[in-house]
Amino acid sequence: MSAHLSILYETIEFGEIFKYSFLGILFIIAVGLFFYDRYQKEHSLWRNYPIIAHGRNLLEALGVYLRQYFYAMDREELPFNRAMRSWIYRAAKNVENVIGFGSTRDLRPIGTVIFVDAPFPPLGQTMVLPKEMIIGPECRIPYKTSSLFNISAMSYGALSKEAVQALSRGAAKAGCWLNTGEGGISPYHLEGGADLIAQIGTAKYGYRDKEGNLDEDHLKQAAAYDQVKMFEIKLSQGAKPGKGGILPAVKVTPEVAKIRGIEPYKESVSPNRHVDIANVSQLLDKIQYIREVTGKPVGFKIVLGNYDWLDELFMEIVRRGFGAAPDFITLDSKDGGSGAAPMSLMDYVGLTIKESLPVLVNKLVEYGLRKRIKVIASGKLVTPGEVAWALCIGADFINSARGFMFSLGCIQALRCHLNTCPTGITSHQKRFRYGLIPENKADRVYHYAKNMVQEVGIICHSCGVEEPRELRRHHARQVTENGLSVLLSELYPVPAVKHFLT
Ligand SMILES: Cc1cc2nc3c(=O)[nH]c(=O)nc-3n(C[C@H](O)[C@H](O)[C@H](O)COP(=O)(O)O)c2cc1C
Repeated sequence: MSAHLSILYETIEFGEIFKYSFLGILFIIAVGLFFYDRYQKEHSLWRNYPIIAHGRNLLEALGVYLRQYFYAMDREELPFNRAMRSWIYRAAKNVENVIGFGSTRDLRPIGTVIFVDAPFPPLGQTMVLPKEMIIGPECRIPYKTSSLFNISAMSYGALSKEAVQALSRGAAKAGCWLNTGEGGISPYHLEGGADLIAQIGTAKYGYRDKEGNLDEDHLKQAAAYDQVKMFEIKLSQGAKPGKGGILPAVKVTPEVAKIRGIEPYKESVSPNRHVDIANVSQLLDKIQYIREVTGKPVGFKIVLGNYDWLDELFMEIVRRGFGAAPDFITLDSKDGGSGAAPMSLMDYVGLTIKESLPVLVNKLVEYGLRKRIKVIASGKLVTPGEVAWALCIGADFINSARGFMFSLGCIQALRCHLNTCPTGITSHQKRFRYGLIPENKADRVYHYAKNMVQEVGIICHSCGVEEPRELRRHHARQVTENGLSVLLSELYPVPAVKHFLT
């Protein structure tokens, strides 16, 4: 018997034994899976096509990641197509941002924006530096800045520590501001030395007392930082109007919880509006209160749906006087991004910036508030063409969140809510954050902001003006139903001033 076995061992090599065992195990798993699929009652496809039906689930999961590399055309994907992302990646890496042969942008669809080139543009290819602007000139400490393109609200919590560190260092280098988002001011926002806009969300994280009310001492502490330049009351954001911020429990780490003044590892859901702001009058009262306590400019962030209430707000300002006005309004687009939001709100609620920005600017003109209240626009304004469009319409500043996420290396994996962001931008797990080196990415943030301003400058030179904020509605056209374009100044005529404030 043992003689037979030794002959067998000699003829069958160890590798072969391993191979047959492996195939045997696979066979047993397949048979088990076959019977499991056939007799489980939840998935009809699995019952009808045991084993092979799993291929569909696998392909569906992989498709999200692979279609951008293999199948999607340059201008096809949403929220951001490859052409947009590539521009940002190149700008962030500071590599030559020119293309060859011809544009892949289809210029025929209705709404396509085309700029109006001047026959004799100003000479010179130098970097255009936007002029200094003052926000809140009536405040004890107004904010002076020459920044044009800034980092939109994203909280520490939604973003990882390394992402915030890279943004704060990059913003400082670029001379633009960084909005803290609704999670309060973290040490990582401060460490880079950038100008900060302190956002007060509906849960008032970072500024609340034990009962969740706005706390004067916390406001004063925040205002004491020289870096904190302005305060922004968040009424709503484009991705989820009428819904407060959502931070899934896995992302509420002990440090995030401490900064927000909440319990760790419990889902953090903000109220869907400020409990103490129920009408325009209370909004103006709150703005005035925060401005008095902090001495710094105060504004609010909103996505517009119905815009009649703007008349109510501006009439109330006219009644109270110039000083009662918010120092700025941040207008977000319904197609804005979010760390986590219900799809029904992301897909269906609110107006896009394309529709709401002309309305807001025109109403400010009508009420004589155009110079008093600065307009900050956001919502997929991530390439120079989009930014220049917003400037033509009348925005004073542009904010971007996802543009800067791309500069950090975001690959649009759409996993911000899961704590498993493969690039570590929106994950608190060490193994994902490992790949994000703040010093290196800070340079990308800086280059993206710098190259954006540089290329908006190229558009404005082509349009015949010296400075981005000299762009006007007659510098751009929009394609209409008959395939021909009309000037933005004809599509959205600037109204006459009806109310004169003192
Ligand atoms: C990860 C993430 C977190 C965000 N957090 C906030 C926030 O805390 N407060 C807020 O007002 N908006 C928040 N936003 C919205 C952005 O500030 C911005 O308004 C919106 O994404 C539109 O700009 P974008 O198209 O350039 O991304 C967040 C967006 C993202 C992608």
